[in-house]
Amino acid sequence: MTTPDGPAADAVAETIRLRSALDLLPVYVPGRPAPDDGAVRYKVSSNESPWGPVPAMRDAVVAAVDGLNRYPDMGAAALRAELAAEHRVAPEQIALSTGSVAVTGDLVRALVDQGDEVVFAWRSFEAYPILVGSHGGTPVAVPLTDGLEHDLPAMAAAVTDRTRLVILCTPNNPTGPALTTEQIEDFCDRVPQHVVIAIDEAYREFVEPELAPDTARIFAERGNVVLLRTFSKVHGIAGLRIGYAVAHPRLASALSQVTLPFGASSLAQAAALACLGPAARAELSERAGLIRAERARVLAGLRGQGWNVPDAQGNFVYLPLGDDSAAFAAFADERGLVVRAYGTDGVRITIAETEANDRSLEVAGEWLTR
Ligand SMILES: Cc1ncc(COP(=O)(O)O)c(C=O)c1O
Repeated sequence: MTTPDGPAADAVAETIRLRSALDLLPVYVPGRPAPDDGAVRYKVSSNESPWGPVPAMRDAVVAAVDGLNRYPDMGAAALRAELAAEHRVAPEQIALSTGSVAVTGDLVRALVDQGDEVVFAWRSFEAYPILVGSHGGTPVAVPLTDGLEHDLPAMAAAVTDRTRLVILCTPNNPTGPALTTEQIEDFCDRVPQHVVIAIDEAYREFVEPELAPDTARIFAERGNVVLLRTFSKVHGIAGLRIGYAVAHPRLASALSQVTLPFGASSLAQAAALACLGPAARAELSERAGLIRAERARVLAGLRGQGWNVPDAQGNFVYLPLGDDSAAFAAFADERGLVVRAYGTDGVRITIAETEANDRSLEVAGEWLTR
């Protein structure tokens, strides 16, 4: 094998004209993996499911392996038909890609010309400013309220003639509170109709059922609302990468124009389809219930210890530790708990298996009495 001449190749590479926008992009920091050092450790840094695939999904993926020499069905006909039935829309209103983060990127590429603005809350999902900035858009990050919820009046006020897209994240990652139906409807009424409002519901299945916003109705009544969903959280197939949007046919068609061809792999399609079968659904719904119950236990435990924790409607809790965030993460690390620190804002801890949640409570308690 020939290798490029190091210094000469480096000199050439230095002359490549990278887009100046790259200098301004924040770096996506993934949740750290737990070190494989034999000690009992819990990785609660990425809001993953603590459980492996449900049996139907495992079987479907194993069966799909035999067809790996073929490209996937680019139209994902079977999966889109099933999702369309679930959302009571036409199959052409379902746009799939490699995770809902990719679908969000597709939305930006379908809507945003250079310098157009995308409004979202901050702190929220850290991919948003990267997706917007990397496609030449201008991210408009509107600070959360003191209660760490979306400041919807401020977000509506941030919409300008250049705004093409607003992203609402409910429940908000990483802080936890969910929006209500009334809040979203009121917000939609304040935003010009030509602006697309994407509702990122990555954690929808974990919301207490009586608090879950009726986004199906909001979507049905408005042509400019898009729902973003993922199979990475309660479905537990983050490793396969698949997510989708439910959108008006005109917008869904625009998404299909910009999306990566064959983004949804055959294994991911098979796994996602298997999740929608009756047995898998029942099992996944039970898992969501377990996470909700554990979340209530952890939340009560933390508040009992004296922590000020915002409402938690996802599979995670958030400790607004401010300047102590990194120190807490290091403290937790030493005690076998890998959490996610967000600069000097706070720390997010995923709700996982009971033992991990016990450890989270222990570590949080020890921190207060250290
Ligand atoms: C709010 C939010 N949206 C989207 C995603 C991305 O999901 P996916 O794995 O489908 O890309 C995440 C993942 O953490 C998330 O927190």
